[in-house]
Amino acid sequence: MPRNIIDVVDLTVEEIDELIATAEDIIQNPAKYQEACRHRQLATLFFEPSTRTRLSFESAMLALGGSVLGFSEANSSSTAKGETVGDTVHTVSCYADIIAMRHPKEGAPYAAAQFSEVPIINAGDGGHNHPTQTLTDLLTIHREKGRLNGFTVGFCGDLKFGRTVHSLVNALSRYDGIRFVLVSPAELKLPRYVKEEALKKRNLPYVQTTDLDSVMPELDLLYMTRVQKERFFNEEDYLRLKDSYILTPEKLERAKADLSILHPLPRVNEIAVAVDRDPRAAYWKQVKNGKFIRMALILKLLDIHV
Ligand code: NCD
Repeated sequence: MPRNIIDVVDLTVEEIDELIATAEDIIQNPAKYQEACRHRQLATLFFEPSTRTRLSFESAMLALGGSVLGFSEANSSSTAKGETVGDTVHTVSCYADIIAMRHPKEGAPYAAAQFSEVPIINAGDGGHNHPTQTLTDLLTIHREKGRLNGFTVGFCGDLKFGRTVHSLVNALSRYDGIRFVLVSPAELKLPRYVKEEALKKRNLPYVQTTDLDSVMPELDLLYMTRVQKERFFNEEDYLRLKDSYILTPEKLERAKADLSILHPLPRVNEIAVAVDRDPRAAYWKQVKNGKFIRMALILKLLDIHV
């Protein structure tokens, strides 16, 4: 059976730390890695829109000397003819050495992996999980703070449908001394199953609030998110909730001087563009880090040692 990454807990904490160390080495010595995946192929199967995740996977494989194939729209594949995800993945696994897959249905990459002869990486499944965004986030936090333990982290926005939040809460719950501050409208709270699994079972401290301003001074990290329009059942609710939080330079006046602001992107309206100039904004660095950590992950899953 190939090794798949469907959920962030498919990696141990030691493995995550190793991936971060490899990504750091890639950043310092990119030339060392440029032929590592020669004659290897990555397929990107995206049944849902993407900019950063798909292109960073492709850029990662190309920077390793490999090549890429795939599709970025379900309609351009045989899905449009009624083919099952299992058969599509079975087919692609005959042509590629590793597959990154995004799908609007929760659990689809897990189900598809049963039909694959090569490793499958979940590149986002519905409102469920997004483990490689989490690896990107962890590398960014590590680069910004020099550690992955001992801080207060605020998650703000759509904690219900935001799959990057679910995966990152899960991952951080395995590091020591993290305090979680969950900021969302009442309708978009972190799902109970994530709270149970990641926080309550481990007796980790957390607070839930609707008020970002009141908790701002406590935060070492602030993870902003977009309200996930595509997961709403009716547009009215989306329109009512979409601008619940807008981070501005004024709001940041009350924040710590060494706060790090993260966002998986795309941003809609929840961070004013003026915040990009604040040295605490780390989200554009996060975009770059996404490529390096995916390079490290591809090497690991293909068992290539440089
Ligand atoms: C996120 C996603 O797809 O879940 N984007 C990403 O991969 N960087 C976040 C989002 O779409 O809001």
